Amino acid sequence: MPRPRVFVARRIPAAGLDRIAAVCDVDVWPDRLPPPPAVLREKVAGCDGLVSMLTDRVDAALLAAAPSLKVVSNFAVGVNNIDIPACTARGVVVGNTPGVLTDATADIAVTLLLAAARRLGESSTDAKEGRWLTWEPTGWLGRDLAGRTLGIVGMGRIGFATAKRLHHGWGMKVLYTARTPKPDADLDLGATHVDLDTLLAESDFVSLHADLNPTTTGMFNASAFAKMKPTAVFVNTARGPHVDQAALADALRRGVIFAAGLDVTDPEPLPPSHELYALPNCVIAPHIASATVATRDAMAEKCAANLLAGVSGEPLPHCLNPEAVGKR
Ligand code: DGY
Repeated sequence: MPRPRVFVARRIPAAGLDRIAAVCDVDVWPDRLPPPPAVLREKVAGCDGLVSMLTDRVDAALLAAAPSLKVVSNFAVGVNNIDIPACTARGVVVGNTPGVLTDATADIAVTLLLAAARRLGESSTDAKEGRWLTWEPTGWLGRDLAGRTLGIVGMGRIGFATAKRLHHGWGMKVLYTARTPKPDADLDLGATHVDLDTLLAESDFVSLHADLNPTTTGMFNASAFAKMKPTAVFVNTARGPHVDQAALADALRRGVIFAAGLDVTDPEPLPPSHELYALPNCVIAPHIASATVATRDAMAEKCAANLLAGVSGEPLPHCLNPEAVGKR
């Protein structure tokens, strides 16, 4: 039996790569930057499997160039880089890595929330650049967390883990939006399911965890920021296109909201000249929510398990389109 051919679109941790290489003929893209789309198409032509990153667009053009492709294993939980209906139509199964990055991502949501609320970026820059003149009774005043209200937009695994930290750690009252109420959140966190307008109006902190889809793209626009408290802190660890960044910059500049913490932007990377970097009340991290050693190892293992199942025609441990099976 010939070994399955697989293209891995960036070097992933050995915890996954070694398992794939033990069974498949593997071509790993060696650069720090992703393969350009045309190169990716060339690389997957003739492959049975693809390990994609969230920076690789998997669309109809790529699928057309890879007639023997059976499986796309995304090294991420978010799959907005993949045209899933197009994969399904061609009988290509798609896997992702849910669960293993929940804690790491919730940790970054809390980190950004604290950093933005307590003006950590701004005050640290001031100290480095010589603006720390003395201890000042009214210098760098931030916002307290204890007992305040947290709004979770999208109460999935990561939203829940973020709320759990802030409810049990800081005694925050939790409001949330979700398609349906979540009995676990109501019970464990005393959380209340509300509509988005109520959440925006009543929350001191708003943390975004919704999926990116046509209904959530651009949901944080000028009108949403105008509904928030002028003292509110906004955090996004989901995806950049949820937010109208010009509206966010305007809201931060004019004090419509107090501060923001972003782990995701649109585009990524956000060019250094972008207006958001110049705002002292905006803390920006370069999409590092899942970047811990243990989390990336666990993602690599899940990714390998999906890939290996897909190339051998077995059910994927985490499949987004099981209906693709049998369509080839
Ligand atoms: C994901 O898996 O979708 C994350 O954004 C990666 O950090």
